[in-house]
Amino acid sequence: MLKKDLKVILETYGCQMNISDSETIIAIIQTAGYRFTKNIMEASIILINTCSIRENAEKKIFSRLQYFQSFKKKGYKFIIGLLGCMAQRMKETLIKEYYVDLVVGPGSYLMLPTLIELAINGEKTINTNLSYDELYRTIVSLKSQKTNIFRFVPIMSGCNNFCSYCIVPYTRGKEKSRDLKNIINEIQILKKIGCKEITLLGQNVNSFFNKKDSIYFHNLLELIALMVPDIRIRFTTSHPKDMSDKTLEIIAKYDNICKHIHLPVQSGSSKILRAMNRKYTREWYLQLISSIRNIIPEISISTDLLCGFPSETELDHQKTISLMREIKFDSAFTFKYSERPGTYAAKYLSDNIPEIIKIKRLNEIVDLQLRTSLLRNKEHIGKTTEILIEGFSKRSKENLFGRTSQNKLVFFKKNDQQYIGNKIMIKIEKASATALFGKSLI
Ligand code: SAH
Ligand code: SF4
Ligand code: F3S
Repeated sequence: MLKKDLKVILETYGCQMNISDSETIIAIIQTAGYRFTKNIMEASIILINTCSIRENAEKKIFSRLQYFQSFKKKGYKFIIGLLGCMAQRMKETLIKEYYVDLVVGPGSYLMLPTLIELAINGEKTINTNLSYDELYRTIVSLKSQKTNIFRFVPIMSGCNNFCSYCIVPYTRGKEKSRDLKNIINEIQILKKIGCKEITLLGQNVNSFFNKKDSIYFHNLLELIALMVPDIRIRFTTSHPKDMSDKTLEIIAKYDNICKHIHLPVQSGSSKILRAMNRKYTREWYLQLISSIRNIIPEISISTDLLCGFPSETELDHQKTISLMREIKFDSAFTFKYSERPGTYAAKYLSDNIPEIIKIKRLNEIVDLQLRTSLLRNKEHIGKTTEILIEGFSKRSKENLFGRTSQNKLVFFKKNDQQYIGNKIMIKIEKASATALFGKSLI
């Protein structure tokens, strides 16, 4: 059978890094001659790019796996491969206990064509070698994406921080910064093909360091800002400990660097931050926020909040609430602690906060954040702001939407496809906790 007759389904879960990796995977598999499909009836290969960050993320993937396996039981002939963080975390257990045919970790995607062939020939196949191959990073420029307008550019991967709750250092390995030449080449290609917004990606994006040329994250940001003055630049996720004044000054200096920082704080209690191994205190983080706002007054700041960590008391939780009141984040991703096997917290700390308390604390955090986001968004009413148009609103084809430099979603009435990818000025008239609504000035 020819490879082009073997069709692949690829599903992606997890963070932007996984979305970006899936684009690379598509390019690798297409180059090898396979074609893609969404129809299970004609699929020979099903690949699931997975996430391990919380137990629920894994549960979702196991139920997907069961769904596909139910078709196999009915006689459909395909192989099932698990890629990504669960593949890295669970390795051969996925083959032995969950009857997966192919297990490939995030460091081995270049080998996918060979590994798929082995699996098709009936061999249970596994590769979870984490030594990232720079070659795999160089082909990123070929990768197929839905749009040329908004593109991810991975600049580093892995994590050396070992926050005590987190599985990522085990699933993504040590921090590795991508070769400068490759990053620059890729951005030059993106410029040529009409890209309008680039998001630099990394688990700790601002820890980027190129030893060979002694280039730090702020040097890289400046280099890119100068190289593509018409392209908007975003980056995520930053670790507070690596957010230097130099980086802040570069963000302030260049118009094309978006005025938004995602800066996960996790908790407002220094005691819990120490137990989490976050490497900063509440006071230090507050000081950092005040420097950020001094240097970049128009900045918007979002965060991640994690409640119910082992031994978190009501007082610790109230410290998170008071930190939120003090900072007034523009938005936040909110989570309750989920024990991850193999992490420091799973080994040495007891998951001793009852589920009902975790839920209560999470609800308080979510409620407060919704009110704060609404307040923050209302500050924009009456102002005129530039947005880059991304597409049609899901709810109505009469409305387009885009984002401001501060990463605020803006909806406005217009049903003309040709505006997508353009920047326009919008007068903001209304705000909700999650979006702004306005009138286009063209
Ligand atoms: N590298 C980023 C975020 C990585 S994971 C950083 O350092 O902040 C994204 C978010 O998931 C984390 O910020 C944290 O809030 C959450 N998270 C990580 N592990 C978790 C766990 N075991 N249970 C619940 N939430 C978790
Ligand atoms: Fe996980 Fe902490 Fe690394 Fe972020 S910095 S990926 S939370 S270990
Ligand atoms: Fe999930 Fe892995 Fe990303 S665990 S959040 S897909 S790095």
